[in-house]
Amino acid sequence: MTPRELLATHSARELFARLPANRVGEAERRYLAEILEAGFSNKGESAGMLRRLEEAFARRFGVPFAITHNSGTGTMQSCLLAAGVGPGDEVIVPASTMASTAFVVVQCGAVVVFADCDPDRFTIDPEDVRRKITEHTKAMIPVSVFGLAPDYAPLMELARQHNLTVVEDNAECFLGEYQGKLVGTIGHAASFSFQASKHMTSGGDGGMVITSDEAYARRIRKAAVVGYAAVDARPGATMVPRDVRQDWSYCRHDALGYNFRMSAPQAALALGQLERLDYLVAARMYIAGQYEQVIHDENCEWLIPPHVPADCVHAWWCYACKLDEQRLGVDWRAFRKTYIEKGGDGLYGLWTPVHLEPVFRNLSFYGSPERAPNFDPRYTGRVKAYREGDCPNVETYRKHLCLFKTGMQTLDKVNRELDALRAAIRHYA
Ligand SMILES: Cc1ncc(COP(=O)(O)O)c(C=O)c1O
Repeated sequence: MTPRELLATHSARELFARLPANRVGEAERRYLAEILEAGFSNKGESAGMLRRLEEAFARRFGVPFAITHNSGTGTMQSCLLAAGVGPGDEVIVPASTMASTAFVVVQCGAVVVFADCDPDRFTIDPEDVRRKITEHTKAMIPVSVFGLAPDYAPLMELARQHNLTVVEDNAECFLGEYQGKLVGTIGHAASFSFQASKHMTSGGDGGMVITSDEAYARRIRKAAVVGYAAVDARPGATMVPRDVRQDWSYCRHDALGYNFRMSAPQAALALGQLERLDYLVAARMYIAGQYEQVIHDENCEWLIPPHVPADCVHAWWCYACKLDEQRLGVDWRAFRKTYIEKGGDGLYGLWTPVHLEPVFRNLSFYGSPERAPNFDPRYTGRVKAYREGDCPNVETYRKHLCLFKTGMQTLDKVNRELDALRAAIRHYA
């Protein structure tokens, strides 16, 4: 059953009964025990765990290839390298994302172009992408921020017209949907993060790329596995076969690569989590629905629920709503303080838009300030600096967003947050 079907057919108690309070269930224990039993050697991966995870993840998303990584940052780096992104190129990313989406572009030697986001949907604005495409644009990384897909139809059309690679950053979106398709199956490749705050985790860090393109999958694997000539796209093909690698004539590397390999214990944890992923997502959907219900029941007009387009299923990594400070009469910080005083476990504001982070304002990655801006001489594009005003929508709404947590694994914790929100709203009534 999909998360939506689970939500429709299960009570909250039944849903949460499937989630271990500390996020470690029987399946994780069993798979970890298998690994510890099998032990570790350099012959192959322990208990075939990476292969099993890659097969199961690919099956859940209905794609042929899934490539394990040790983070949802490394995933995007591999995808860009495998797409041939390098010095001289531009890659378009949204201004509102976790910084890794932009860092990987710079770490490929390319130039980041920040696009503004839609003020209601919070995802990359296709019109701004259209304006920012140049002859140097090689790729884009749309982000399903907070768990909602961007408007992919116009983005994919732009990609087709300009021959761009589209890497989906779905660190925050598991089993979301766009126009009836699973998010992750729309772009040329899709990246997922298993970092601790995400829908599923491999024990703190980890990531996965999925794609349907075998040649691209092979290049992604090579970028993530030190450029070994003999690795390929097949599930678990992270090791060079012994008879190949032991032969003196074997030339190992025909491409540069990083070592972004996942370890077998991480894969064991992720495989266990994947088995209950639909429940994990359904629980987040339930929690988001409950926040919305409280706002509605309390007739609260100053918390503006997020807009979910009819053609999308939101995966609710968090519940992001806008605070109308003028209507409320106090500012974001005062509201957050009240929410915590009423028993809430805190709520987040939006990340600083990436183009306004000090590292992009001072361009320190290009060398000392005296040398900057000294983009690679192979870069002949127009971007020379990042400034306030580049992405006005994000710069405006960033100060008013309340990101409520949806990762609670017990109903008690959920109810505590809901009570806190209700009490905070009544406090200002
Ligand atoms: C939108 C987004 N992109 C990328 C990442 C990077 O993933 P990781 O922390 O696994 O490297 C994260 C989360 O951490 C994220 O939220």
